[in-house]
Amino acid sequence: MVKSNYPSIDVAPRVLLGPGPSLVDPRVLKAMATPLIGHLDPQFLDLMNKMQEMLRRVMQTDNQLTFAVAGTGSASMEASFANMLEPDDSILICINGYFGHRMVDMAERYGAKIHTISRPWGQVFTAEEVESALKANPAKVVAIVHAETSTGAMQPLDEIAKVVHAHDAYLIVDAVTSLGGVPVRVDEVGIDVCYSGAQKALSCPPGISPITFSDRAVEHIKSRKTKVANWYLDATMLGNYWGSERSYHHTAPISMNYALYETLRVILEEGLEARWQRHRETAALLWDGLEALDMSLHVEADYRLPTLTTVRIPSSIDEAVIRQALLHDYNIEIGGGLGELKGRVWRIGLMGYGSRKENVVLLLAAIERLMK
Ligand SMILES: Cc1ncc(COP(=O)(O)O)c(C=O)c1O
Repeated sequence: MVKSNYPSIDVAPRVLLGPGPSLVDPRVLKAMATPLIGHLDPQFLDLMNKMQEMLRRVMQTDNQLTFAVAGTGSASMEASFANMLEPDDSILICINGYFGHRMVDMAERYGAKIHTISRPWGQVFTAEEVESALKANPAKVVAIVHAETSTGAMQPLDEIAKVVHAHDAYLIVDAVTSLGGVPVRVDEVGIDVCYSGAQKALSCPPGISPITFSDRAVEHIKSRKTKVANWYLDATMLGNYWGSERSYHHTAPISMNYALYETLRVILEEGLEARWQRHRETAALLWDGLEALDMSLHVEADYRLPTLTTVRIPSSIDEAVIRQALLHDYNIEIGGGLGELKGRVWRIGLMGYGSRKENVVLLLAAIERLMK
């Protein structure tokens, strides 16, 4: 046997307190090492059934068409637009950060007629704003981000959902940075398509992403005149694999499914309410600590996201130097600003397994030392 000249993987463990990936519970990493079985093995199909049940509980929905897409959050995002839009369909996209722009880019590729409304990065929309946009330009679909990872703002959804339905439109909600950390009540709010990602508040490695379609959304998809313009993400075909037919569509990423399965078990064992409470408390500790360091938070308290905090960078410091020192000297990762907020804020994620008081205290102490 020839010895490889390449070193084995040897990475310094980091305290992941950025916008994702987040820290993962060792139980989940252990589950990923479970021996592979076939993707149509009855044991695997049984795990899929149970995973669907757990996903429904975590997403607070009875939707039959609820499953995990084999891909990161962007894949589920794309699945939402690909299935709900046909060429020339009109869509209203609410943009108050980086991911609203990504929605526009995706919807364009499916030939939709796009109208947008915008808010400054860090602010949220009112139901009245959505209503007047729909009056001016009726739309079949409205898309909005629940938790804008680029700004740290949490969008209230209840009233917007009512307006969208009063206009006989479908509501797509991006819950990538909210699910598992703050309430995402799909049925109660009346969300038609809701997707998330694994590597944020769910605390699973990236590579798999939950999605759910309301019965109403499923009827809409069934009534399409054209084929879904994305073979891999066709929800009807995926539903046939996840549903009773079990028809082969693609080879499911077995180990990622193990990871999500264990992730959901961890979440349900903690309990959703307890988990949301933990995220609120840990975030409050961080917010107080940052303010005690004379730093100001970018988002107004009422709309602040517990899973992702944006803090304004004092003009006296070089933000990149401090971020790099956090990584090199303390093994702590936080995120820089994205898009319009590049260079202006840090993004600190307290998500899932990483949302712990000891991480907050460690980070605050390191920032304080470095800023001195
Ligand atoms: C709000 C939001 N939507 C979508 C995505 C895309 O997810 P992914 O990077 O997993 O493809 C992200 C990722 O950060 C996000 O924060």
